[in-house]
Amino acid sequence: MSAHKKSEVKKITTHQLQEMKLRGEKIAMLTAYDYSMARIIDGAGIDVILVGDSASNVMAGNETTLPITLDQMIYHASSVVKAVARALVVVDIPFGHYQGSSGEALRSAIRIMKESGGHAVKLEGGSEIKDSVLRILSAGVPVMGHLGLTPQSIYKFGTYTVRAREEAEANKLLEDALLLQECGCFALVLEKIPAALAKKVTAALRIPVIGIGAGPDVDGQVLVMQDMLGITNQFKPRFLRRYADLYTTITDAVGNYVSDVKARAFPNADEKY
Ligand code: KIV
Repeated sequence: MSAHKKSEVKKITTHQLQEMKLRGEKIAMLTAYDYSMARIIDGAGIDVILVGDSASNVMAGNETTLPITLDQMIYHASSVVKAVARALVVVDIPFGHYQGSSGEALRSAIRIMKESGGHAVKLEGGSEIKDSVLRILSAGVPVMGHLGLTPQSIYKFGTYTVRAREEAEANKLLEDALLLQECGCFALVLEKIPAALAKKVTAALRIPVIGIGAGPDVDGQVLVMQDMLGITNQFKPRFLRRYADLYTTITDAVGNYVSDVKARAFPNADEKY
């Protein structure tokens, strides 16, 4: 599919994602944080764009997702929204902007919706953020849940290894997934958990489950765009498939440009006014 005009396109809605689950059509989701890349991936047919707080890592160079601010998330999300004709745009509420109280969570969600034009928000956690989820939903803002490896809690876990391998944690995850569905979340992300558990949760839920490092038996997949395009060449988790090697492509292109400039080969006679 090529880049398309906003007016000609049937937009993806939360209801359509539900219908996709019902008819067994897998949902394709990627992150994006800026206008140019969002325009490309929307035109290429992506169903859901996540303006993830992974922007903290891949755009700002932070070690964790914790430092990114609400203003920064709104800046990224508004750039993405301007580019998108078809995809549903989901925006992460960053760390520290929904855990304090449900009122704070609602204010954060409303700022994101009003100031960025995003279509939904995503929050990490289960029963501990129930009040925040309910309060946001009560204002008519769609909420996507996120369980398993939740990077905003990295200092609690200590590592980015697979979550919910133990029975107690797996049971809590299933309970939390059912609770988020009961609250009214329209979809759920499961990050880095055993494939068998992801399959069980997906079968138990009516709402779509989108996996990252959660195996094939979920309703859709999400990856960080910079990872799947091979821009971040240091990050090599087992679940990641690279669909391009842009690190090499860009390095070669920039190297050729530098050589041409130094050798006075650019610009040539046609590349001037
Ligand atoms: O911030 C992010 O990119 C995410 C995905 C990894 C699901 O939450």
